[in-house]
Amino acid sequence: MATVAFLGLGVMGYPMAGHLKNKGGHDVTVYNRTQAKAEKWVAEHGGTSARTPAEAAKDKDFVFSCVGNDDDLRQVTTGKDGAFAAMKKGAIFIDNTTASAEVARELAAAAAERGIGFLDAPVSGGQAGAENGILTVMVGGDEVTFDTARPVIDAYARMVGLMGSAGAGQLTKMINQICIAGLVQGLAEGIHFGKKAGLDIEKVIEVISKGAAGSWQMENRHKTMNAGKYDFGFAVDWMRKDLGICLDEADRNGARLPVTALVDQFYKDVQALGGKRWDTSSLLARLEK
Ligand SMILES: NC(=O)c1ccc[n+]([C@@H]2O[C@H](COP(=O)([O-])OP(=O)(O)OC[C@H]3O[C@@H](n4cnc5c(N)ncnc54)[C@H](OP(=O)(O)O)[C@@H]3O)[C@@H](O)[C@H]2O)c1
Repeated sequence: MATVAFLGLGVMGYPMAGHLKNKGGHDVTVYNRTQAKAEKWVAEHGGTSARTPAEAAKDKDFVFSCVGNDDDLRQVTTGKDGAFAAMKKGAIFIDNTTASAEVARELAAAAAERGIGFLDAPVSGGQAGAENGILTVMVGGDEVTFDTARPVIDAYARMVGLMGSAGAGQLTKMINQICIAGLVQGLAEGIHFGKKAGLDIEKVIEVISKGAAGSWQMENRHKTMNAGKYDFGFAVDWMRKDLGICLDEADRNGARLPVTALVDQFYKDVQALGGKRWDTSSLLARLEK
């Protein structure tokens, strides 16, 4: 059993922290900016809540975070009352936020100066993956730190991979999002076309999902797309944040991402339709408007 702090109890962090406590059997202290969520978590799972990231992180073996973007991450680590200044030497910070590779490298260096280990460890698998403790975790960092943290990460994961040095976890997550962007647009166009052609979408998907067109998005999203339901899942605002990170990185490394750039603009249209918090499968709503 380890002493663990978890910073950020959102859609993802709340259940992930729960698995660290219940499945991992760790002693968990939680911090959330809106304190009521931390109190709710403690009422549900036990453990302790803290009022600042520093208070939560003090003397812990492992400190996890799952917040919004680069700036949020800087706030909870190196900002005022941030975790880093309070962490003991030899402790490990594991960041599950989807953020840039740049901030991962910056924080890995800041952590090393203080004798703390740092892993960028973004996740894939969505809300259901977090709730069921079966996330895919893409990790950047050094091997010794990874080997020490891995048994703890396992509490909320089905697949954990060390992808390379600091930032490599975030770069892998970028590839994940690049692959999803074009795929969801293709799925939206397929369903849109099927409706126009007067076919039974359920029947179409039942058949083609077993062939070469099958995908996680097809299996898990076709029903709600067909019903025009988008008030759940992975928010369009978050996807635009992620695609922005991919496009910035592509500017630096020279990769060409024409479809990713186009789909990012399609998501801008969805935001304008009022879909900022809609699931990413709402690309279909844009075609049907
Ligand atoms: N949802 C998904 O399906 C999914 C899947 C994979 C990856 N992700 C990534 O995981 C991260 C979290 O996503 P989520 O869906 O859990 O988001 P969310 O529900 O909006 O939760 C965000 C959490 O971060 C906290 N936070 C934000 N800014 C903060 C700051 N400046 N200081 C302290 N706390 C701050 C929020 O606190 P408050 O409660 O006070 O707002 C909240 O606890 C994002 O990077 C997202 O891209 C999400």
